[in-house]
Amino acid sequence: MMKFLTCLLMTGCVAFSASAQFGLTPAQRDSLNKLTAADHADMLQQLGITAGQLRKGPSGNPKDPNAANSSEAKVNQYNLPDPLTFKNGQKVKNAREWTEKRRPEIAADFETEIYGKLPAQIPAVNWQIVSDKDTLVGNQAIRQKILKGIVDNAAFPSMKVEISLLLTTPASAPAVPVVLEFGFIRSPFNPGPIKPIGLGSAAEPTWQEQLISRGWGYAIIEPASIQADNGAGLTAGIIGLVNKGRRRKPTDWGALRAWAWGASRAIDYFEKDKNVDAKRIAIEGLSRYGKAAIVAMAFEPRISLGFIGSSGAGGAKILRRIFGEQVENLASSGEYHWFSGKFIQYASKNTPDDLPVDAHELIALCAPRPVFISAGSPQVEGHWIDARGMFEAAAHADAVYKLFGKKDLGTMQFPKLGTPLVDGEIAFRQHAGGHSTGPNWSTWIAWACRYWGDCKYD
Ligand code: GCU
Repeated sequence: MMKFLTCLLMTGCVAFSASAQFGLTPAQRDSLNKLTAADHADMLQQLGITAGQLRKGPSGNPKDPNAANSSEAKVNQYNLPDPLTFKNGQKVKNAREWTEKRRPEIAADFETEIYGKLPAQIPAVNWQIVSDKDTLVGNQAIRQKILKGIVDNAAFPSMKVEISLLLTTPASAPAVPVVLEFGFIRSPFNPGPIKPIGLGSAAEPTWQEQLISRGWGYAIIEPASIQADNGAGLTAGIIGLVNKGRRRKPTDWGALRAWAWGASRAIDYFEKDKNVDAKRIAIEGLSRYGKAAIVAMAFEPRISLGFIGSSGAGGAKILRRIFGEQVENLASSGEYHWFSGKFIQYASKNTPDDLPVDAHELIALCAPRPVFISAGSPQVEGHWIDARGMFEAAAHADAVYKLFGKKDLGTMQFPKLGTPLVDGEIAFRQHAGGHSTGPNWSTWIAWACRYWGDCKYD
């Protein structure tokens, strides 16, 4: 799994999806890529952009002549939009003005320019328990439920969407806090009985064991069961179901919002499950799923804590910063499906500097809720994900958190590798490992304990 994500990361992005493409024959893969290219071309046409007017992104392979910038000395100067200045130029004076007036302006910009809007009518989800059993994680007794969220398809019966969700809570515990991960319930490489896909190193317990031993639960939702991770899939999944199998319009939602919508539906279920304390739900994800995690937290107020792993461009990284992955990569046929079609314009008619918002404001949308931004080491993870770009966004979300009397990172200086900046509601740590949240789990749990309390071993 880690190897797989690392290889994705190093080779830059091709039309690829872990669960959708795994196990496909080369011919099937080829046909999927062709369908994706056709959908991408259709969106360009709707936007009035010719293929030649679309700028190409740099390569994720450091050896390529067009490799992405990985030198701080070559980073451009950029001006960040001020989260506390209204569109009419006036300044936000207090938390109430932020919540009632400025926050909606910023949220609307993210919707119209980057991630797309949720459709007015999205069919309901009916959760069914597929299995419910007592079992073990490591040597700890747990209760594990497998659920499926059946989306009402009465309006378009030929399309089926069934969301896969796993919920694990300590055995015979009362309602516990739960970390919801965007991830894989079964390893895509080893489809067999469910075993925790420990991303931690062999020397430490898996993240699942760490959470259970704290007396907390975890859940995993499979993004591909909500919306495929490729452009070819946009006429299916929840996006395709709402559009009755037709292609997207430029302002329609992309996969990140669709995945985040699925997480919200899981929370609807958690509110009814007596093993879960739905007031203490965290969201966690890595890489593209880290992007989904920050989008989910920004738009879903019921999420109480965030653990945003190596989310990079389109997630917690400043999009204006020329370092690592760029908007031009996100607009390519391999990644445009994560966003609204309209976002492609920023790699053509417009530039990232024209964006009315940037990632510091995506983090600010989470305020005052605590959010932890995680990255790996540049030596192991590479530079593509741009740890510093994520730090800058976290640092510049400070003004909004301070309006609420919350603590920021406590510094504007990029910290040395491994330094935990965990004193406040915006937290950051770059661990010494690769493309994983694994080595930051114990730091995250200790930080989360401050907010969730009742840690078993306190
Ligand atoms: C590619 C892509 C990133 C993404 C990553 C992943 O590297 O360019 O934006 O985060 O894949 O999800 O593994």
